[in-house]
Amino acid sequence: MDALARPIIPPAPYVHPRDLSTPRLVVATLTNTLGNWSKDAFDIPYGRRRALGVDSILVNDPAGIRQVMQTGMSHYARPLAAVRPVRPLAGKGVLLAEGTQWRGQRRMLAPAFTPGSVESLLPHFHAAADSLAARLTGQTRANLADAFHQAALEAVLRSLFSLSAGPEQVALAAMVRDYVATAGRPTLFDGFARAESDFAFIGGARRRFQKRWFAAVDRLVAARRAEPPGAGHDDLLDRLLAVRDADTGAPLSDAEVRDQCATMLFAGFETTSRLLFWAAYLLSLDPAEQARLRAEVRAFPPERLATLEDLHHWPRLKQVLLEALRLYPPVPIIMRQVVEPVVLCGESLGKGCLVWISPWVMHRHTAYWDNPTAFMPDRFAGKAQPWISEPAYLPFGAGPRICIGASFALAEASIMLATVLNRFEFSLESARPVMPVGGVTTAPDHEPWFRVEAI
Ligand code: HEM
Repeated sequence: MDALARPIIPPAPYVHPRDLSTPRLVVATLTNTLGNWSKDAFDIPYGRRRALGVDSILVNDPAGIRQVMQTGMSHYARPLAAVRPVRPLAGKGVLLAEGTQWRGQRRMLAPAFTPGSVESLLPHFHAAADSLAARLTGQTRANLADAFHQAALEAVLRSLFSLSAGPEQVALAAMVRDYVATAGRPTLFDGFARAESDFAFIGGARRRFQKRWFAAVDRLVAARRAEPPGAGHDDLLDRLLAVRDADTGAPLSDAEVRDQCATMLFAGFETTSRLLFWAAYLLSLDPAEQARLRAEVRAFPPERLATLEDLHHWPRLKQVLLEALRLYPPVPIIMRQVVEPVVLCGESLGKGCLVWISPWVMHRHTAYWDNPTAFMPDRFAGKAQPWISEPAYLPFGAGPRICIGASFALAEASIMLATVLNRFEFSLESARPVMPVGGVTTAPDHEPWFRVEAI
């Protein structure tokens, strides 16, 4: 990259000069939920709209977001439109649970994500990163979207279920990637449905996926149950199997264990692999930044990293990951629905009003960011946990339902990216821009080939 051309402005969908008419909004939403925004959306504190009989509000004001996700969270729930595509992946696990059920599940899972627990998982992240590097060795070109997807799955399988990634697990990764790109993409029918069972005719592919996916996760759990007592893995699965109801002493049912495992698998690898892909893409657009990171990593090679504290040896790497999460948030939209009338941003909202909180819009909002569309990792210099300290930075959500796996994801992504940087130079084969497409996660519109060159 020519120094005069910095900072780079990476690809993003067209921003419309004014709000789209309802028919165009419908078409744009079906094509790419990131491509239906007007310029206004990135300037205003909130915007209200009624389209096709549905009342909705886009909230960009940090105080409004705090109200929805924290102080007044009991007035909101996940809308059906957001639940329907994710249900086949996550069942009744913590991601989609509500109220007291959610609270109980979150409490039960919390010990697996403390800093101490995450630190104990670092060897698993190293092992998954080394497998990734071994797969890339000897290649001259690679589909890094695919490679990171497999690697992130392996990291979760190893850390949470003490499993390495065999052929069946590789097939699992492909199955989920295919689902989120096809049947799992939100449709207009999801927006109009009044119950999860409505429009059953479009649900066939989702039901088929759920059956295969849950059967695969059931096999993982069955394999563990078949082990002799006291095999002692001390992983998430062991913890789930040991949970007892405080009143009845009953263990979790098979379906409950399976749903939490499916949730963790999906939530844990789909998002992190997107982060890794977009970070690698940005570093290919900006070879000078890539070289700078490589120098940082080579000064403290990944094999020396043994504690979370050691991650401080890679400050620039962290800034790049945080900036990749800003420009291409893996979860591009967080939706809630009003369950009892509220006043939000001074607007009276009735039951059923859809509340859009968009990390995509917030992260490119002109009121909160200098040069918002530019790749500028410096903006995160010295910020330890901007996803908590910066009200306009929401890659992991906010409030009590903030992502349980944030530090897990950042530690894993740091080790993966550092391992690749330490061993390979990578660049894009084609100049064709890669466009982000909004769905369950922020996916590339095509999976580009990267040239990889061993160092
Ligand atoms: C870069 C990686 C990741 C990103 C960007 C991300 C993003 C998010 C976001 C935005 C939410 C909140 C959704 C909402 O409020 O509607 C969330 C929740 C969640 N995430 Fe992550 N996540 C990542 C990695 C992980 C990992 C590695 C795990 C587990 C191993 C995980 C497990 C979960 C779970 C269980 C929830 C639901 C929490 C609850 O509702 O209490 N995530 N994540």
